[in-house]
Amino acid sequence: MGLHVGIIMDGNGRWAQARGLMRTQGHREGLQAAKQIVKAASGMGIDFLTLYVFSTENWKRTVEEVGFIMDLVRQYLKAEFSFCRENHIRVRHAGDLSKLPPDVAKDIAEVCKDTEMFAGMQVILALNYGGRDEIVRAVNKALAGIAGASSASGRAIEINENVITKHLDNPDVPDPDLIIRTAGEYRTSNFLLWESAYAEYYISDKLWPDWTSADLAEAVESFQKRERRFGAVNSAIDEAGAPL
Ligand code: FPP
Repeated sequence: MGLHVGIIMDGNGRWAQARGLMRTQGHREGLQAAKQIVKAASGMGIDFLTLYVFSTENWKRTVEEVGFIMDLVRQYLKAEFSFCRENHIRVRHAGDLSKLPPDVAKDIAEVCKDTEMFAGMQVILALNYGGRDEIVRAVNKALAGIAGASSASGRAIEINENVITKHLDNPDVPDPDLIIRTAGEYRTSNFLLWESAYAEYYISDKLWPDWTSADLAEAVESFQKRERRFGAVNSAIDEAGAPL
């Protein structure tokens, strides 16, 4: 199976500030970068690409900035549909749809439905997404199911990792292999908290609007050189513990 790459697209505001422009102009350029990265990703062995578009904390920004980002999302969903159809890209959503502006929630639900049958790369838009929020919602969904099941069987059923995983927003999407963050910050910012347990991180100093397909290729190449152990021992160490 191909890779799952998640991207924390940071630095739009700084990109604009450095040019004496409005922050919104940075988001506009950020959208152009996102389109270019989506177009490049499917040719790089990436099967799943999760983009952190808007977090559950981003509502703290000004009404104007939030409104502008929502407008960009509306435009993106309308303008990119034919590209998705031509390239068999399936669009999905992660996050709480119920708290988004109703028309945006409707547009997202429609694009997800209309691209559901495409078997190419999957682009997951994390929009009104928070890792803690996703876990809380998953636990509540699980509890609702368990309450019914345990009263029917008369036995207590406990929550375990599989139960939580099964109730995440996209339970069939594999955990991310690589998480990229731009603009030089070393934080997870509540992105894919549960799913990123064994993800490799790649931090780029470049601001998101400056990101190109070459940067994505470099990140994937750096990831492919790493050895992932998932908590186990190094495969190049023999049983006595001596390096082979
Ligand atoms: C982070 O930069 C960026 C965001 C919170 C918004 C991301 C939105 C887009 C890239 C446009 C929409 C994209 C799609 C695919 C629909 P920041 O504002 O936090 O930058 P700063 O840290 O420099 O202030």
